[in-house]
This record gives sequence, C-alpha cells and structure tokens, in this order.
Amino acid sequence: MAKRAIASAPGKTILFGEHFVVYGSPSIVMAISRRVYVAVEKYEAEEVIVESDLGYTGLFTGDIYKPLIGGLDGEFILKPIYIAAIKTLKFLSINSGLKISINSEIPIASGLGSSASTFVATIAATAHLFGYSLNYRELFNLSLEAEEYVHGTPSGVDQTIAINGGLVEYNRFSGFEKIKSSVDIPLIIGNTGILRSTGKLVAKVRKFAEENPNTMESLLLQIGEIVGEAKNLLVKGDLEGLGILMDRNQELLRIIGVSHEKLEELILTAKRAGALGAKLTGAGGGGCMIALVTDKVRSSVAKAIEDAGGKSLPANISISGVEVKLYNN
Ligand code: MEV
Repeated sequence: MAKRAIASAPGKTILFGEHFVVYGSPSIVMAISRRVYVAVEKYEAEEVIVESDLGYTGLFTGDIYKPLIGGLDGEFILKPIYIAAIKTLKFLSINSGLKISINSEIPIASGLGSSASTFVATIAATAHLFGYSLNYRELFNLSLEAEEYVHGTPSGVDQTIAINGGLVEYNRFSGFEKIKSSVDIPLIIGNTGILRSTGKLVAKVRKFAEENPNTMESLLLQIGEIVGEAKNLLVKGDLEGLGILMDRNQELLRIIGVSHEKLEELILTAKRAGALGAKLTGAGGGGCMIALVTDKVRSSVAKAIEDAGGKSLPANISISGVEVKLYNN
C-alpha cells in the first residue's frame, strides 16, 4: 500500500510591525484558521511532481521544469515547493522521487502567508513520510531558501507563525515568544483582491530606508514602542487600546509607501462602520487589511467592506501550528 503524509499549516495576519520587522524591529503575528494542506507520497525515480489547486502541475527532473498542466507560468509557483522538498530530502540524506499535492484555503499573494505555510507543510510532510519529525529550527532553516525565492529577503515571521500557530511576538534577531492574550482577537480581514509581490514591496521599503535613513530610524523606534504597548494591552485584554495602536501602525506604513488606495478605502469604511482600529496586513500594495471589531459591529464592518468591493473573512486566533499525519491508502 502507498504511504502518504499529509501536513497542514495555518495562514497568518500580522497585527503589528510588518516591513519594520525586516530591519530588526519586533512584530506581533497571529495564526488564522485557514490552512494549506500538502500531501506527499513517493514517486518514480528521483523526479518530483508538484500539483497545485491553483491549476498548475509540473515535473522537476533535477532543476529542469516541465509543465504538465497550466503552462510555463506555473514555474514561479511550483519551483519553491520543489526547492523546499529537495532541501528536506538532502538534509535527511534520502534519495527518492516525490509527488506533492497542494490544496489551500488561503488566498495567494494577499498578505496572509500562503507561501510560508505551503513550504512549512511541504517540509513537514516530506520528513514525516520517511519517519522523521523536525523541530522549529529545522523547519525554519529548511523553508528559508524557498521563502527567499519568493520574497527576496524575508524576516522569517511568516515561517515562524506557520510552524508555531497561536499569537507570537517575533524579532528576527532574538527569535519568537508566545503571547498569552487574555481575550480573543476578533478580526474582519478585508481582501482588496489586488495581487502583489512581497519581494517587490520589501525592495521598495529598502529604497525608502536608504534614501531616508533618519526618518526610517525614527519609524523603527515608533514601531518598537507600538509593539511593546500592544503586547501589554493583549495581556490585559484592552481591545480599544489595541485598535488605537493599529491606526498608529497604519500611519507608519503609509509613510514608507506600502499602502494602496483600495486598502485605504477599506480601512476608512471599516472604521466608519465601527471598527476599533484598522490597518493593512502583510506586505501591503494591495492584498489584505484587517479591522479589529467587537461583537456589536462585526457584521456591519464585514458588510461595509463588501459594499466597498472587498471580500470579507472573519478571523480569530488559531492555536495549532503545523500538523502532520501518515496514511496508508
Ligand atoms: C510579509 O508577510 C511580511 C513582511 O514584513 C516581509 C517579511 O517580514 O519577510 C512584509
């Protein structure tokens, strides 16, 4: 009987500190209950076949890519998944072909961490198929090259939350710490539907930082303060205070040029409908915003986002990080 390992990892929203986290500032990030599922089984010879529910299937023989479904466009999507799997096999000193199938509940290129979740789940499933269980550091290191392929110079925040789940403070130099919030964090995510590249936005901020070093330094200090305060308010359960901090964080993101007029429209509409605070989440430039809500305004905020042309998704903290199981079928 063919064995199959199936792993899943959660998507995320960054509550505070995206972009600045690349420069060593702290960030706060929350796993959401939408997940990516990755099934891995052995395949012929040493070839790797990757199929994605985005409509692409491709065959990798060594580094050579052959599209089977969906044409050459699929390479950018499938190649980093192949890289993640191959690195895992090499790390475990295994020679084998693989068939990898991806099914995702997380919209791509929208700031919700679909790529990191895909790579982390691919690595966990590949290792599990051969009887290995990897720790945080191993999963993190093995997913780095795939993240770099997609994002350029990632801070590691996306992989960290995909591995751990929950609510986490992350700093690329000092690592991560779980935060115990005394309340749930009810969010409405608003998706502009505008796809964008995290790598390009990170490069845009790098240019801003090079051209405006003093402003950047001051913004890094401000985000450090916002994250420090936010952590205290999460522990206290002060949602109103957190909303004010989200608005302040959004002002800093506007200054570095990663907002977008559609994001601004959804943020404004959510605030007018009673959200406690609202900001873009992830790389910006399109993608998603988040609005912090109370039970009283939850449905009116969701409706306001939809009326303004966004797609609304409710989200709360998801506790579980990457999970994996073996099936004999
Ligand atoms: C992307 O989810 C978050 C960014 O801060 C980039 C990164 O931290 O790697 C924009």
